[in-house]
Amino acid sequence: MADRPGPVKAFETGKKIIFFAMVAVAGLGMAAFHSGWSKEAAHEFLRLSGRLALALFIASFGASTLQRLFRAGWTRFLVIHRRYLGIATALTLWVHFTVILSLIAFEKGWQEANAPLSILIPGASTFVLVGLMALTSNAISQERLGKKNWRRLHLVGGYAALLAFIYEYVLQLFLTPEGMVPTLHPAISYMLLITGSALLVLRLMKGRLARRVPLGSR
Ligand code: HEM
Repeated sequence: MADRPGPVKAFETGKKIIFFAMVAVAGLGMAAFHSGWSKEAAHEFLRLSGRLALALFIASFGASTLQRLFRAGWTRFLVIHRRYLGIATALTLWVHFTVILSLIAFEKGWQEANAPLSILIPGASTFVLVGLMALTSNAISQERLGKKNWRRLHLVGGYAALLAFIYEYVLQLFLTPEGMVPTLHPAISYMLLITGSALLVLRLMKGRLARRVPLGSR
């Protein structure tokens, strides 16, 4: 079996993951806003950044689940670098949030039609949780918070983000608010919804199985 890369090598690769994710966000920004700011361009950017964040999130939050399912080189890569994939997810989501805040500030009536408080409050709380996860994704924070609190924050934040992604596609497929014009083929939306829901079930099952299996036999 190949040697597991040390923390320095993982850190070097992790920095590259974050760098390329941010280059991708900048590229999506240029593609969406090439003709300047408009409500339509901002929606296009939200769609693109949301999808990039979803891919990064599945790679980080789903890393150990994918490793258990496939046990391949690429799943090992995800497990080793999940901290950096998680930070890249959080940064992408915060750019998503910044554009939402800009729409609220500059486009009259946008918030009422697209982000009523029932969506804005849980959504903003998720962004805050995901931001805290990224800020505490290091050994010093883990030590200061204590393992239990740190794990709690990362579980609650992770599940909140997973539920937000699932809700996004429930919204697109079944609830479609007035201001939203779904651009994905329904088959793709269903696929993303099923992927998110499967990850939720598999993660919850893992928690249950882990509690049932005594520590010594893992
Ligand atoms: C404050 C709450 C939020 C608001 C108001 C909001 C708003 C939006 C809007 C307007 C779009 C574009 C929809 C369209 O025009 O088709 C979008 C896309 C998206 N958002 Fe958010 N968002 C919020 C929070 C979140 C959160 C917390 C997540 C995930 C953690 C998320 C994930 C996504 C995804 C994945 C897409 C792309 C959907 C697609 O594939 O078309 N959003 N969001």
